[in-house]
Amino acid sequence: GASGGPSDAASGGALAGGFEQLWKALAPIGRDDRTGGYHRYSWTPAHRECERWFRDEAERRDLTVEADGNGNLVAWWRPDPTRVTGGVVTGSHLDSVPDGGGYDGPLGVVSAFAALDAIRAAGSGGGTAGGTAGGAGRTRPLGIAVFAEEEGARFGVPCLGSRLLTGALEPNRARELRDADGVPLTDAMERAGVPADLGPAPDLLQAPSAFVELHVEQGRALADLGEPVGLARDIWPHGRWRFEFGGRADHAGTAAMADRHDPMLTYAMTALAANKRARLTQARTTFGRVQVEPNATNAVPSLVRAWLDARAADEAGLDALVEEIRRQAGDRAQRDGTRLEVHPESWTPRVEFDVRLRDRLAARLGAPPVLSTQAGHDAGILAAAGIPAAMLFVRNPTGVSHAPEEHAEPADCLAGVDALAAVLTDLLAG
Ligand code: GLV
Ligand code: MN
Ligand code: MN
Ligand code: MN
Repeated sequence: GASGGPSDAASGGALAGGFEQLWKALAPIGRDDRTGGYHRYSWTPAHRECERWFRDEAERRDLTVEADGNGNLVAWWRPDPTRVTGGVVTGSHLDSVPDGGGYDGPLGVVSAFAALDAIRAAGSGGGTAGGTAGGAGRTRPLGIAVFAEEEGARFGVPCLGSRLLTGALEPNRARELRDADGVPLTDAMERAGVPADLGPAPDLLQAPSAFVELHVEQGRALADLGEPVGLARDIWPHGRWRFEFGGRADHAGTAAMADRHDPMLTYAMTALAANKRARLTQARTTFGRVQVEPNATNAVPSLVRAWLDARAADEAGLDALVEEIRRQAGDRAQRDGTRLEVHPESWTPRVEFDVRLRDRLAARLGAPPVLSTQAGHDAGILAAAGIPAAMLFVRNPTGVSHAPEEHAEPADCLAGVDALAAVLTDLLAG
């Protein structure tokens, strides 16, 4: 289940106990006990509670928490309070998809605290007070980041916080975003007491020399290889498109089948076409969110709004895929007498992670497997902005993600912390 965490039996050490304590404090927040899934939407009470947990853990370690105007947070451990560039940053996100797993995001944040504790414990001073340098030869500050609205579950644009931070998304576009209840982004932030001053925030990360995100694997490559930890090579380009199918509402009994303008039919045929096209091209298409108006059992719908998530190995392939789905949807709309509008909602380019940084991590970790991924991550947004970034994946025995079945075994979580501590120690030294 999603609540599982390392037990002392897994390694017997202080590392296991430290990780388990961190994990146990976070695990109940926003969990639906019926499904075991998580509902941690940005700036809702559950998400705020996760952020409070983060601030408490930072404070316990005498880290200085800084925020930008986009809802991103970084807890800094540094030799002195002056702002230093060239730091090393790790971290992930605490928001979830609807009924998501417990590991996607939080594993990277919990592991970051546990890795920091291990680095300090291994250091000459072994000090835990703020400002005490842990490892001998440590020259760089270490930051633990939590990025806002990574899943885009509330406002529709994934990696919203890191996109705004790096300037990949125009603040004016973000100001237009509304949640499902029509609440604007900045209102949601301000109601939660989070300062909303959207836009590039280079001060928050302070020109890091490296960003390393640890993440649960979202497929089963590591499980198949029998390896607990891997590195990321690249991220497929991906995006979201809102398809709106307009029709004519009518009576479910008296409207003859031939007289209907039923947008549900156009949508259904489009979903089948998207699935077939993705299979033919080794791409990925999903319609995972649909709204129907008026949503009555005994009425032909007037409108179907459906969100296409599409991903492919390269950008030209993705463009062609979406264009073909749009073409087939348009043809079908003509036959059904319905109207089609397609609105792009987000786009993420193909990302290749920094090869030199990856090689350095690979050397430090004994050449673990290197994986391509189809999932988006803040590390990818930072990489696209020119920050040297890398990712560590932790084995997921179910291979399932964005669902309650997502899992990582306690021993593998500790292997992840070990690996993260090792690469951070190396990066902090120079
Ligand atoms: C992020 O989790 C994604 O949808 O790729
Ligand atoms: Mn995710
Ligand atoms: Mn994630
Ligand atoms: Mn994600």
